[in-house]
Amino acid sequence: MTFSGIAQYAGEGARRAGWLVNQPGLENDVVPRCRAAGSMGGMTRRMLLVNGPNLNLLGVREPSVYGTDTLDDVVALATRTASEHGFGLRSVQSNHEGVLIDAIHEARLDCEAIVINPGALTHTSIALRDALSGVNLLVAEVHLSNVHAREEFRHHSFVSPIAEFVIAGAGIQGYEFAVRRLATLLG
Ligand code: DQA
Repeated sequence: MTFSGIAQYAGEGARRAGWLVNQPGLENDVVPRCRAAGSMGGMTRRMLLVNGPNLNLLGVREPSVYGTDTLDDVVALATRTASEHGFGLRSVQSNHEGVLIDAIHEARLDCEAIVINPGALTHTSIALRDALSGVNLLVAEVHLSNVHAREEFRHHSFVSPIAEFVIAGAGIQGYEFAVRRLATLLG
């Protein structure tokens, strides 16, 4: 792809993200929280944080399983941790598989790694796995709960074979561990 091709692609991505945010009823589907942390005039090293379906309900959703911290708490923790290591962090949460896949595709233009909690798509989505392996970035898979101590259908992950590492059962601290480990691997 030529440089102008890449620029057009990036512009298209931004337009599409804006379109989605502005759609009634979709306000919470795409949450592009791009923090300034680590920004150095276009030279930002960046990670993408992806949270899948139902993780917008963190804090109220089955707190005995997922805890009482909210998605905002997760994003703040991951952003703070990334910034400590000189990285910026862009965050997206969606209940729609295609939105997650588009965000992953766009990450190849400006991110070095992806921290992803795919939610239930972990156990069902070959498309999400193909997107992750297609962009050729380091991938960390995170689960708040210990999926292996839960129902059998949560034991299989389509993402794990293409992830650099998997953290499950550490609550929101898992996101912090993942960001730190990725920063170490990226050097
Ligand atoms: C989860 C585990 C999944 O099985 C579940 O569908 C989720 C959350 C976790 O963080 O523990 O939505 O990914």
